[in-house]
Amino acid sequence: MYSEFIIETPLDMHLHLRDEDMLKLVAPLTSKNFSAALIMPNLNPPITTKKDLLNYKERIKKASKNENFEPLMTIFFQVDYSYEFLKEIKDEIIAVKLYPFGVTTNSETGVASMDVEILRPTLQSMEKLGIPLCVHGETKGFIMDREKEFLPIYESLAINFPKLKIMMEHISSKESIDLLKKYDNLYATITIHHLLLTLDDVLGGMLNPHNFCKPIVKRPDDRDALLQLVLNAHPKVMFGSDSAPHQKENKECHHGSAGVFSAPIALQALTQLFEKYNKLDNLNKFLSLNAQKIYNIKAKKKLIKMIKKDFTIPKSYKYNNEEVIPLFSNETLSWSIES
Ligand code: NCD
Ligand code: ZN
Repeated sequence: MYSEFIIETPLDMHLHLRDEDMLKLVAPLTSKNFSAALIMPNLNPPITTKKDLLNYKERIKKASKNENFEPLMTIFFQVDYSYEFLKEIKDEIIAVKLYPFGVTTNSETGVASMDVEILRPTLQSMEKLGIPLCVHGETKGFIMDREKEFLPIYESLAINFPKLKIMMEHISSKESIDLLKKYDNLYATITIHHLLLTLDDVLGGMLNPHNFCKPIVKRPDDRDALLQLVLNAHPKVMFGSDSAPHQKENKECHHGSAGVFSAPIALQALTQLFEKYNKLDNLNKFLSLNAQKIYNIKAKKKLIKMIKKDFTIPKSYKYNNEEVIPLFSNETLSWSIES
């Protein structure tokens, strides 16, 4: 029985921080408790130039209000990135994020075709330069099958670019796990919501738009397969919250946006989950060590003391006109972060 637990150097390897007031609202919620986070570039318009990247990084640092937090930057994949451009930007980024056209929030400028020959010049340059590729792996097929339908594309990328590290972002189905294990150059991030929710939590009872995200949470057996992988801290998986804040009004409406806001509750929920299965000894691997090995980075040490004490999740988080509802709003978790 643990009554406290130290998380060492937590990393969130998939995070949306947005911009302006939303950035000011959400950045401190991550920077306080995480050593570093991999920042997604799907702003509107997306981050595609060195100048925009560096400016965005400055805005993040300023909004973070914490010297002891490192934003790990990414740029938004474009088929026309030249070798020279990638070489010039290499030291400023940790990865390039690829969105197929139109599959999720702000992906309207994503790639129109996932044909390997069309992607080859850019991916070959990245492979040569040692820049990892993060992918939102979904098609535009039937909602429950979109990730599964994308697997042959992951497979052809893995085969065609054997030295390119490919991150299967936010995997949500058991079929993805089989592919992940098959190729040495495939890795994956996993969110909290895909470990704790199924489609029933979105629309099995009353409709809950705050549990709606892409890829959609799936069946109990998918959730359980992901959970096994994570609890055993499989070395090819790492934590990426995919915390994706949207204004309350843009979630609680028709045409509601996809995205679950989980950043402020991530460490508490994961500690509770790992404790439940007697796997706390593996938590630091999932939250930190695996990612450092996969990305070949050395994160700055940051110790977060978790204590076994109830934490009632705020109903919402607010700043100026922004209001965001977190995952498990107003529910109580059994672990808190010592303040
Ligand atoms: C993300 C967002 O809102 O930016 N939404 C989501 O449902 N996960 C984009 C993404 O990662 O797909
Ligand atoms: Zn995301």
